[in-house]
Formats: sequence, structure tokens, C-alpha cells
Amino acid sequence: MLDKIHSLLSEMEQLTASSADELEAIRIKYLSKKGIIPVLMDDFRNVAPEQKREVGMKLNELKQKAQEKIQSLKEQFESSKKQNTDIDLTRTAYPVSLGTRHPISIVKEEICDIFKRLGFSIAEGPEVEDDWHVFSSLNFADDHPARDMQDTFFIQSNPDIVLRTHTSSVQTRVMEKTQPPIRIICPGRVYRNEAISARAHCLFHQVEALYVDKDVSFADLKQALLFFSKEMFGADTQIRLRPSYFPFTEPSAEMDITCHICGGQGCNICKYTGWVEILGCGMVDPNVLDNCGIDSKLYMGYALGMGIERITMLKYRINDIRLFFDNDVRFLEQFQAAH
Ligand code: DAH
Repeated sequence: MLDKIHSLLSEMEQLTASSADELEAIRIKYLSKKGIIPVLMDDFRNVAPEQKREVGMKLNELKQKAQEKIQSLKEQFESSKKQNTDIDLTRTAYPVSLGTRHPISIVKEEICDIFKRLGFSIAEGPEVEDDWHVFSSLNFADDHPARDMQDTFFIQSNPDIVLRTHTSSVQTRVMEKTQPPIRIICPGRVYRNEAISARAHCLFHQVEALYVDKDVSFADLKQALLFFSKEMFGADTQIRLRPSYFPFTEPSAEMDITCHICGGQGCNICKYTGWVEILGCGMVDPNVLDNCGIDSKLYMGYALGMGIERITMLKYRINDIRLFFDNDVRFLEQFQAAH
């Protein structure tokens, strides 16, 4: 009997099962009521008394081994079954390519971060706007020629509703609801009815900044502009302000920075002037403050607005605005390192 147990023990080692049926057959063969092991246990009665101790121990070992083996085969078999269903054999092999953030998002966040460090907080407004917030409140008179500066998408059934042409509309939205001090930065999508070319698109992004408080001066604006430009384009960057016109600011200016590609020496990006224009700005026109319920005798402010595409094109030397909207991965994956 001992020999039989020994040979069964080594037989146990060899057992394999590749299906539930096979496993069940093994269980029946060894452990069911009429299976090999219970039958052996019945025979135990006939073992000579001096061998009972040794045979009993071996028999117990055999039974335990059989139970363990069947359990472990079951687990092995179930986990391989699970793995098989979890594996997607159509998946591409490693390395798995990761997505990248869009360059416009990267630069938008960079701009916002810089202004956040100056104490500005983010404000947002609707893209489908009314005439009041996009034009009238910002001092564009009904027949003001400045309305022609921007080609607007109007909603045919309601000429009062437009797709916003600039994020300056968020200024009004915030000022109507909040009394100074106001220090906000408004990133967002804007729309203009323009022919699409390498330099212009009917859809693009702007960031607007607005600061309204007592005693805000043009010098404060200039300081914020210089800080922003150096943070964005490098510590050597210089700025220059050229007088300009916007209905909502007085005085108004456009800001150029020294061309960071040629370092101000002159190249085809700056058209050999050494300067590139990046934004519009000025002191908030008192009419705009009054339109929004802020006392212009008590408060004053500065505002500025820039196109994110333009900043991104300068920063990464991109020469066609359409690349931002094509979703071509060969373009987008080049910004992997810029995160
Ligand atoms: N809204 C202007 C545009 O779309 C940009 C701008 C200019 C915004 C001057 C301002 C500003 O806040 O002060 O071209």
C-alpha cells in the first residue's frame, strides 16, 4: 500500500488540466466517493497494526496533496482564462505613444500662469454673445466705424446675437457684476468672418487682462507688460509701445517686443525691423466703466488683449495658423517636450 501511495504522490506532481472538464475528470478520478483516494482510505482498515501509523500519515499527505493540486490547477486555469479575455491582441506593441497637449493650450496656460503670479484670476464668458457685451458696452457707438474693424458673425434671425469677436466682452460681464478691485484674465475662443489663410482664421483664441482699482496708472500697465514679456519670451526681451486706437481704451497702444529670433538684429520674421507686434492695450475708457456701473470718477484701470495663436507662432516659429486646426499628429507630437 505504501508503494501505491508513493506512486500516486508522484503522479500528482505531473497532473495538468487545460479545461474545466479535464479538471473535473481529475477530481472525480482521485477524490470522488469511489475515487482512488477514498477507496484507499477504505482499505486502511486492512493495514497491519504496526504499519497503521506510517500508512495513515502518508495517506493523509496524499489526500491533502490531491486537494491542493486540484485547487492550484483550478486557480491557474481560471487566471489564464481571465488573462485571455483581458488581452487585446489587436493592440499595437510597445512603446505606446502618449498624446500631447495642444500648443494653444500649452501657451494659454503659460500666459495665465504669468498673470496669476501678478494676482490675476481667471474669468470666462459665453462665446455666443449679445451686441451689448461685444460692442455697445465697450464704447462702440451704433454707427461707430470701429465696428468695421472686426468682421462679425451675426445670427441671421437675431442681429443682436453675435459670435464674440474678442474676449473683451468678458470685461463687461465681470464689471457689471463686481465692484473694484478687479484683476482678471480671460482666455477664450473668438470668431471673425475672415477668409482663412496662413495668417488669419475665422476661429482663434485670445487672452484679455483687466485691472480696475483706485490709482491705476499707465506705468502700472507698462510694468505688467514688461514682466509678462520677459517671462514669456526671455529676460533679454524689451518692449515698445506705439500709440493706437481702440474704442474701449484711452489712451490706447500696441505693444511690440524685440524679435527674439534675431535678437533685434532684423530677420524675415520681424521684417527686418527688429520688433514684432504682440498685443493691444490701454487705459480703460471712463465710458466703459460707467456703462458697467463702476464710478469712473473713483476708479480707473488698464486692459490688454492678445491672440494666443500669434504668441504661439512667434514662440515656436510656426508660419501657418492653419496648422493649429488641422489636428495633424505629425505637427502636434512635436510639442511633447513643451509640457
Ligand atoms: N479686443 C482687441 C482685439 O480684439 C484687443 C485689445 C486691445 C484688448 C486693447 C484690450 C485692449 O483689452 O485694451 O483686437
